[in-house]
Amino acid sequence: MSTIKLSVLRGDAKQGSELAEYEVPYMEGSSLLDCIFWIREHIDPSLSVRYSCKSANACKECMALVDGKAGYLCSIRAKQDTSVKIEPLKGRPWLKDLTVEME
Ligand code: FES
Repeated sequence: MSTIKLSVLRGDAKQGSELAEYEVPYMEGSSLLDCIFWIREHIDPSLSVRYSCKSANACKECMALVDGKAGYLCSIRAKQDTSVKIEPLKGRPWLKDLTVEME
């Protein structure tokens, strides 16, 4: 079975941060946000991420750093048998995991 490996920054400003490693089944056409949903459903429902529309760039709430570059998790496709690092946006108050305060 093809998978995608996600390193996701977890934690909050009080408890500190750590990178959590997840292996998610690859599904053709799935986005990185879909992979986060899979983790929430199958491994840890407490993984925090902000989203509203679940589609490309309509709400702009799912922006995060993907391998160091800002992008929308719902519009970046997962690539099979790869590893990707996902972190919260920098420069905004960090709330928890991938969630930051929006303006
Ligand atoms: S969830 Fe709305 S832009 Fe990504």
